[in-house]
Amino acid sequence: MNIKDEIKRRRTFGIVSHPDAGKTTLTEKLLLFGGAIQVAGAVKSNKIKKTATSDFMEIEKQRGISVATSVMGFDYKGVKVNILDTPGHKDFAEDTFRTLTAVDSVIVVIDVAKGVETQTEKLVEVCRMRKTPIIVFINKLDREGKDGFDLLDEIEQKLGINVCPLSWPIGMGQRFQGVYNLYEKKLCLFSPHGKQSEEDTLVFEDLDNSELEERIGERAAEELRSEVEMVSEVYPEFDKATYTTGEISPVFFGSAINNFGVKELLDCFIEIAPNPLPRVTEEREVLPEEKNFTGFVFKIHANIDPRHRDRIAFLRICSGEFQRNTNYLHIRNNKKMKFSNPTSFMAARKEVIDSAYPGDIVGLYDSGNFKIGDTITEGEVLHFKGIPSFSPEQFRVVHNANPMKYKQLSKGLEQLMDEGVAQMFIRKLDNAKIIGTVGALQFEVIQYRLEHEYGASCTYEPLNIHKACWISCADDKMLESFLARRKRDMAKDLDGKDVFLAESQWILNMVQENFPDVQFHFTSEF
Ligand code: G4P
Repeated sequence: MNIKDEIKRRRTFGIVSHPDAGKTTLTEKLLLFGGAIQVAGAVKSNKIKKTATSDFMEIEKQRGISVATSVMGFDYKGVKVNILDTPGHKDFAEDTFRTLTAVDSVIVVIDVAKGVETQTEKLVEVCRMRKTPIIVFINKLDREGKDGFDLLDEIEQKLGINVCPLSWPIGMGQRFQGVYNLYEKKLCLFSPHGKQSEEDTLVFEDLDNSELEERIGERAAEELRSEVEMVSEVYPEFDKATYTTGEISPVFFGSAINNFGVKELLDCFIEIAPNPLPRVTEEREVLPEEKNFTGFVFKIHANIDPRHRDRIAFLRICSGEFQRNTNYLHIRNNKKMKFSNPTSFMAARKEVIDSAYPGDIVGLYDSGNFKIGDTITEGEVLHFKGIPSFSPEQFRVVHNANPMKYKQLSKGLEQLMDEGVAQMFIRKLDNAKIIGTVGALQFEVIQYRLEHEYGASCTYEPLNIHKACWISCADDKMLESFLARRKRDMAKDLDGKDVFLAESQWILNMVQENFPDVQFHFTSEF
């Protein structure tokens, strides 16, 4: 198969949801269809349960397990599907944001009863920023939930996307009888407990056919007819082009636990979801079918076994063919590197591969050379964009608690920051090291890992900071005057960029008013 065909048959996507909407269940059912796993329950262990802060060890253990399942690949109807797992836990939101840089589309899972929840809003916002194509799966139709039209309204309003239902539910909860698949014009009847069979799916081109009454009863048939008519009046007809550009999001209804609506979703997904898309670098756009290999690191996972300090860097292939034992250029370090054991992730199996293609995710063993966002090429100097750091929400000054272990602490902190566990800022005034995170959990994780992996110990000093903003200004003089006036609040991130640490929203507003030419950014890439 030539590279063009390899690209054409790949679909790399992520499933995102608020915890408990059914992401794990849906992933598992997709894997079952793809033959990647044989029994239900295999992916469950990947799930980071809602845990109290003090249970972070449990979370780390689960994160360890999740290495194996953080990318799951399988073949389905000749298509190579790569699912990238995204932690639902809000303290790991940054992990999820970064993973979203490596996908070409997403499936958003929404609980029919709960509707759009906070975490989903945040994640979809990131997808919208990048115009990532979105398919929505409304889950748990076997339970009572919100009215279909109300829910679609809520999705459009809260998520800021335009929807186009490709299936429509027939009742819900106790009265749930199945869905009408508007895309394939099929009636799919529901039997609980995942006992769906081919006979439950009937081609039904014309809903006026009186057979509909026989199948679902008079009342439901009437309701379905009028609702489907309304759907066709209210929502635009599905058009692949507008989906691919992120302008319209198809919606499916189903029940993941009952394996209902999942096959329809997958069948439609492999048909409409985009192949590996071009990616932008600071220098130029990179097309997947280019001859030369390029890729970037979007995730680094440390081995939680302290005896093996190696890490796995997750590389998204963007163009060309990646080959084992071939010299590539690590751009940031300007260093040639060769990978003798690159691994692919095929669900539960991890195997050494000889080559990989755009859209694929390859695991590279790393002894500390990589940092999130690093680009690797055959020699061309490129820097992939779109892997920003987000302004953290919690801040603490880190102190060395053991003067004999200063080196270990520095090394440990450096490596943990490379992995993206948290961000570090160096305060200009006193060179204090400030750690910023999304959740409180990371502080404990850092303390624990410094001790167990690096033999270093640290303490934290609380810090009252509301937001860290990256700043820029076209006028150098103005920038200088700003930096001088706010010296007390200034820091540098690890790339040497200027960061303003705002104590409160009020101060931020005031400073923005006083310095209208200075721009304040909430992500490191602008
Ligand atoms: P998440 O990864 O998005 O956090 O959600 P997960 O799949 O773990 O699902 C959350 C809960 O919702 C699970 O129940 C799961 O069984 C249930 N669930 C998933 N899909 C459906 C569905 O279609 N209908 C119904 N009624 N429930 C569904 P749990 O009790 O938290 O876990 P478990 O004991 O079942 O493992």
